[in-house]
Amino acid sequence: MTIERAGVIGCGLMGSGIAEVLARAGLSVVVRDISDEAVAAGRKRIEKSFAKGVERGKMTEQERDEALGRLTFTTELSAMADRQLVIEAASENEDIKKKIFAELDAIVTDEQAILASNTSSMPIIRFAQATSRPERVLGLHFFNPAPVQPLVEIISSVVTAPEVADQIETFSTQVLGKTPIRSDDRPGFIVNALLIPFLFSAIRMLESGHASKEDIDTGMVNGCAHPMGPIKLADMVGLDTCLFVGQSIYDETGDPAAKPPVLLSRMVDGGLLGAKTGKGFYDW
Ligand code: CAA
Ligand code: NAD
Repeated sequence: MTIERAGVIGCGLMGSGIAEVLARAGLSVVVRDISDEAVAAGRKRIEKSFAKGVERGKMTEQERDEALGRLTFTTELSAMADRQLVIEAASENEDIKKKIFAELDAIVTDEQAILASNTSSMPIIRFAQATSRPERVLGLHFFNPAPVQPLVEIISSVVTAPEVADQIETFSTQVLGKTPIRSDDRPGFIVNALLIPFLFSAIRMLESGHASKEDIDTGMVNGCAHPMGPIKLADMVGLDTCLFVGQSIYDETGDPAAKPPVLLSRMVDGGLLGAKTGKGFYDW
């Protein structure tokens, strides 16, 4: 089966980036979020990114217009009925995601369709078990910003059919031009199992008065050649997402390094979510 029709659930930071990647790769893409406001914000984010892509010489104006023409935005989940690949990129909440998988299972008609989650940390098997086709469910984890970062993690649950993961690996490389790596269905997979304890260490360093956010970030950029420091990166990922991801890894592993710092919880409670709300550790 050649994948030509894709769907994306959630049009936030990641859903909009993933939809952009799919549309630029030539697929027809239906993007669904829960409100007109969220859909409009997602569309705006994609248009802004396309404009940057043209400005940076990554695509022509004609390619931009064609890619935009392949995107459809909706609040109706029923628009996913004829999709061959649906990537769930809704908020990092297990109940929301399980409900989406159960609903997709009832809506998506093609028995060969693949249902994927962009979850940062949660067990893929739990989403697979919410469907009647668990062997066709897997993790396909993109990195932020999705149009720029080359990596995808492919996560097979204990019941994912090997040919489904193989097909997605080929699709990721040949159609999306991404670099795939494979992970077992473990909390945080490969990258977030390493990254979240690092980000939380940096936040604890700030919280304890050990160093300023600027010096922590400058240290990792200029001392270790990271493209951005950990405090700024947490802001870019979204402080709510960092909190949910850490909590989910901590709940399953009990690893104290993944336990969300109190300062992070307080900031999320205060609506300081980072770049997406304009205020986090930094003003954006
Ligand atoms: N479309 C196409 N290309 C684009 C683009 C767009 N909208 N925007 C930027 N680019 C290209 C640029 O042209 C440039 O390409 P070249 O190097 O070929 O010139 C490249 O992308 C970098 O762009 P910029 O110069 O604008 O950006 P920058 O150099 O300031 O880098 C950054 C910005 C990519 C965000 C960089 O700071 C970075 O990589 N930061 C770290 C990001 C990171 O760690 N992400 C992972 C987060 S964790 C995660 O995602 C997992 C999770 O589950 C939480
Ligand atoms: P976000 O908060 O920017 O966007 C989440 C979107 O999901 C919102 O627009 C929200 O309205 C929508 N949503 C909630 N319930 C929905 C439903 N039932 N149907 C459709 N849409 C729904 O979050 P994000 O950063 O885009 O994260 C989305 C997913 O991607 C999470 O699982 C997250 O862990 C993962 N992820 C995030 C990053 C990152 O750096 N932010 C990177 C990789 C993966």
